[in-house]
Parts: sequence; structure tokens; C-alpha cells
Amino acid sequence: MKCRRSIRRYQDRQISRADLETILEAGAYAPSAGGGQRRFLVGVRNQSLVETIGRLNVARFDRSKLSGSYVSADQPSIIDDPAIKSGFYGAPAVCVVFARKNFLYSVPDAFCCAENMVLMAAELGISSCIVARGEETFDNEIGAALLRDWAVPEEYIARCFVTLGYCDGPYPEPKPRKANWGKIIE
Ligand SMILES: Cc1cc2nc3c(=O)[nH]c(=O)nc-3n(C[C@H](O)[C@H](O)[C@H](O)COP(=O)(O)O)c2cc1C
Repeated sequence: MKCRRSIRRYQDRQISRADLETILEAGAYAPSAGGGQRRFLVGVRNQSLVETIGRLNVARFDRSKLSGSYVSADQPSIIDDPAIKSGFYGAPAVCVVFARKNFLYSVPDAFCCAENMVLMAAELGISSCIVARGEETFDNEIGAALLRDWAVPEEYIARCFVTLGYCDGPYPEPKPRKANWGKIIE
């Protein structure tokens, strides 16, 4: 857990189908509200399709609400660098995490899956990044066609993504933890 970093610079080298399956399965084993397992996970290993979806992910990114702080100097995000055209940063593979529409714990269910997946990726030596804006990404004609192609159940909505690939360049050190991050009460 301490070694995992969000990686936004990727080599042009695909991950194996077996590793993708292992990472998706880790998502399926994530905790879920009420044990309902209300999620649907799609792994995409087609690089040009990953690029298409990554561009849709940025298309409706609202820069007007940014707080002004930077995300990462060594692994710049779309917040740091407006020239980045894909929200998936050139990763060769991505997982789309769908969760139940109109369910109170839909968003936490999805991000629990994503966290399991990035930890499994780290275990396999694969770099990753959780990416938000699932809803906006598919809210267009191309997105709707993909959901039909993938036979995503009607009652599910995309909540987030996990990019996957191999880190290009030096693997970053974690940012120091903020002081006063918690305590133990005996
Ligand atoms: C809920 C959530 C949403 C995130 N969304 C994005 C995103 O859309 N794009 C991105 O590049 N990183 C995203 N991240 C990754 C964070 O930027 C990253 O975790 C943070 O900068 C800390 O870096 P680290 O993961 O390397 O420790 C997200 C992380 C979380 C937990």
C-alpha cells in the first residue's frame, strides 16, 4: 500500500490479459454496501479505444472549479497540464467501474472496487491511477454506443476508472503525509 503511486506517464507496453483478469477479479472481491456486489467491471485492452474514452473523459472537465493547488510535479495530471488530451494519460489499458444507478452507496461501492484494483496492480508490478468523471465520460453518443456494445446492464452507471500499464521513467516517491492525519483513542 505504501509503494503504490498514481502513475500518469506510461511505456508503450501492454499488460497481459491474465494480469488484467486478476486485477478485475480483485475489484469483484472488494467490499460492497450490504454485500450487494452492485458493480460491473469492464477491462479494455484495445489501445485506440482506451485513447478514445480517455479523450471523452477530459472533454467535459470543468476547469473553473479548480482550487489552484497542483497534483503532482513528476506525474502531472490534467489539472497540472491543460495540454494533456487523454484523462488516461496514454495508459495501454483501462478498467471501467460501473455501479448501480440510484443507490445510496453507488459511489463508495465503485471506489472500493477501484482501490482493490490498484492495490492488486501494485502487487503485480503494474502501475495505475484512479480516474474520476465516469458519468460525464459516457454521457454522449460514442459513450452510449460503447455501453450498448459492452452490454452494460441498464441500471448501471460508470463511476470511475483504473488506468493500467508500466511506469515510464523513475517511479515517484510518495508525498510526505500531512501532520495530524489521525489518532488512536484507547
Ligand atoms: C476519488 C479519487 C479521484 C481521483 N481522480 C483522479 C483523476 O480524475 N485524475 C487523476 O489523474 N488522478 C485522480 N486521482 C488520483 C489522485 O490524484 C492521487 O491519488 C493523489 O494525487 C495522490 O497521489 P498517489 O495516489 O500517488 O498517492 C483520484 C484519486 C481519488 C481517490
